[in-house]
Amino acid sequence: MKVAIASDHGGVNIRQEIINLLEEMGIEYEDFGCECTTSVDYPDYALPVAEKVANGEFDRGILICGTGIGMSIAANKVKGIRCALVHDVFSAKATREHNDSNILAMGERVIGPGLAREIAKTWLTTEFQGGRHSNRIEKICKYESVNL
Ligand code: RB5
Repeated sequence: MKVAIASDHGGVNIRQEIINLLEEMGIEYEDFGCECTTSVDYPDYALPVAEKVANGEFDRGILICGTGIGMSIAANKVKGIRCALVHDVFSAKATREHNDSNILAMGERVIGPGLAREIAKTWLTTEFQGGRHSNRIEKICKYESVNL
C-alpha cells in the first residue's frame, strides 16, 4: 500500500504522528507538506493528494487540518474520492468496511495524537466488506460518471 499524506498549518503535529505510525507499520508513503511556517490554504494540499489517489498513483490518502472539515470537503470534490472525516475508532473501521473510503481526514483541533494514531491504524488495516456495500458505492460512481 502507498499512502499520500498532507496537512495544512492546523494539522502539522498529527501529520508527524501519522508519519511515525506509517514508518512503524512499514507502509510506503509520501509527505506532501505543508512546510507550515505560515498559514496556508487547505485546498492546496487536499486537492493534489486527492488527485493522486484518484489517478491510482497512491492507494490511500490521509489529510489533516484544524477540524478535518475543509480537507474532507475539498478532497470529496475529486471524482473517485471517498474521503471520510473520522474522529473515533468505530467510524474508522466502519468507513473502511462499508464505504471503502480511500482518504481519511482528521482534525488536530478536535482530537489528540494518541486517538489519531488509533484511528489511522484501524483505517489502514481494515478491509472493505464488499457485498451490499459495493452496490451503494456503484450508485455513487454512476452519479459521478453522469454528473461530474
Ligand atoms: C485553518 O485555520 C483552519 O480553517 C483549517 O485548518 C481547517 O480547520 C479548515 O477546515
